[in-house]
Amino acid sequence: MSDLLTRRDFVGAATGMAAGAVLGAAPARRTAAPAILVRPAGRNVVVASSNGLRAVERAGRLLAQGVDPLEAGIDGVKIQELDPEDTSVGYGGLPNEEGVVQLDASCMHGPTKRAGAVAALEGIKTPSEVAKYVLWYTNHILLVGEGAKRFALSYGFKEENLLTDKAREIWLRWRANRGAADDWLDVPEDANLVVRPTGTINCNLVNAKGEISSVTTTSGLAWKIPGRVGDSALVGAGQYTDNDVGAAGSTGRGESNIKVCGAFLTVESMRRGIKPTDACLETLKRVITMTEPRLLDEQGRPRFGLTFYAVNKIGEYGSASLFSGDRYAVWEEDRAALRDCAYLYQRRRRGS
Ligand code: GLY
Repeated sequence: MSDLLTRRDFVGAATGMAAGAVLGAAPARRTAAPAILVRPAGRNVVVASSNGLRAVERAGRLLAQGVDPLEAGIDGVKIQELDPEDTSVGYGGLPNEEGVVQLDASCMHGPTKRAGAVAALEGIKTPSEVAKYVLWYTNHILLVGEGAKRFALSYGFKEENLLTDKAREIWLRWRANRGAADDWLDVPEDANLVVRPTGTINCNLVNAKGEISSVTTTSGLAWKIPGRVGDSALVGAGQYTDNDVGAAGSTGRGESNIKVCGAFLTVESMRRGIKPTDACLETLKRVITMTEPRLLDEQGRPRFGLTFYAVNKIGEYGSASLFSGDRYAVWEEDRAALRDCAYLYQRRRRGS
């Protein structure tokens, strides 16, 4: 059998399924989502956002030892969640507008078709791990806020203050500078800090047996309105796995991703035989068509950043970003490396 079904085989199979529906074929056959990729990866591949270089290395080594891809991925992203210097994830993440760190995470395990997620979780350093507990131990998929925290505490997670001095200082400067008409005195020498940083780590994995998983974790958009949930907590947006096809996930402006269910859309493109990098680019084009004019500049280019990452069942991988110059992390052939993302638009230099 060839590694990939040809498009004709695929259309034939799909037609057969439609005919089967008329003729009363077995329901499982009629409802199964078509998959083009049929050969397992035969090797371990891990793809992540650029802040995930240590994560892909850790996850890759665990996959080589036979550790399950979801366990390996979460062990990898936890490095960033626990790192106080990474202000986009977990402990040390930038807070909401009231100075409270609220974390989002979600994950999927391809072999068991399970998913778990938490949103607006306070006081727990590793939301990806809490999402994994939701996946394994509940009949639900998404827990939020106080309920998510109580759930985590019940499993022995420790409640801690996640606002590091570094993140607090950045937040205080933002608060001082955010508006000319408010009652906070400006701090002009740090005007550069009056931006809305966003960051996240997404990690997608396939092992030699073709078992696939994905995980995304974030502290979300800095200075967000309390209670705001981004794409990272949403299965199908921040990450998605279909064990027959592949996995995908995102970093960047969550609101723009949520409207196109970007991780799901990317996996669906791969299901149709599109390579991972092209699948990511297709999703970004859809994001642009769904973007409100207020978020586009005079040339129709987005005023925000967004990147997708993907791996398929045979171990092909890729990433694409809205703007040039972004990179992503990969583990393959027993080593970790950063690679350039494909992109839709050339990034403008400052002042041009
Ligand atoms: N992509 C992370 C967020 O928007 O929260």
